[in-house]
Amino acid sequence: PTIVVLISGSGSNLQALIDATQNGQLKANIIGVISNRQKAYGLERARQAGIPTESVSLKRFKDEGKTREDFDDAVALLIAEKYRPDLVVLAGWMHILSPRFLAHFPRDNVMNLHPALPGQFDGAHAIDRAFEAFQQGQIKETGIMVHKVIADVDRGQVILQQPVPILESDTLATLEDRIHTAEHQIIVRGAQAFLDELTAA
Ligand code: GRF
Repeated sequence: PTIVVLISGSGSNLQALIDATQNGQLKANIIGVISNRQKAYGLERARQAGIPTESVSLKRFKDEGKTREDFDDAVALLIAEKYRPDLVVLAGWMHILSPRFLAHFPRDNVMNLHPALPGQFDGAHAIDRAFEAFQQGQIKETGIMVHKVIADVDRGQVILQQPVPILESDTLATLEDRIHTAEHQIIVRGAQAFLDELTAA
């Protein structure tokens, strides 16, 4: 089975996926990595693993007088026409996928990783908001999840979720560390589980 991964940042979750395909833990091939930022270090990780990379910049589209829809179409067509993967994984992709984008994926084979529990801290800065809520005494722990992508941000059917404890001694940095370590495991297990479901169907 084949996977395309979408990133925006350092790509540590992409790296976890790459490592898992190389050590046999994830029975799939990553055939493309797409970033919305040319400078995303995740592109370097892909290049080092010999994986084809693309960067599609919304800013460049806007500078050329094109629209957000043009950008979405370009990314969607790149994936759905050029790569045609069994699974699309959003690993830190910092753009919301519109209904128009998702219309290119009728098999609903798009998975997102989000560093919070279902319905807890949807959207951006989830870890900061969880830490804040902990400091206000509103929550005792947080968590992470991988879910199927629908047009509602971070709201699709959960594939896997996992609680992550918050300690009294935690700083935002130590919590982020614990969350990212847990993410690197759940993204691999979630990709395999979703692929098993998609290829069995
Ligand atoms: C991860 O925490 C992911 O859950 C969030 O953005 C971060 C991406 O980190 N959406 P990386 O680029 O995979 O290191």
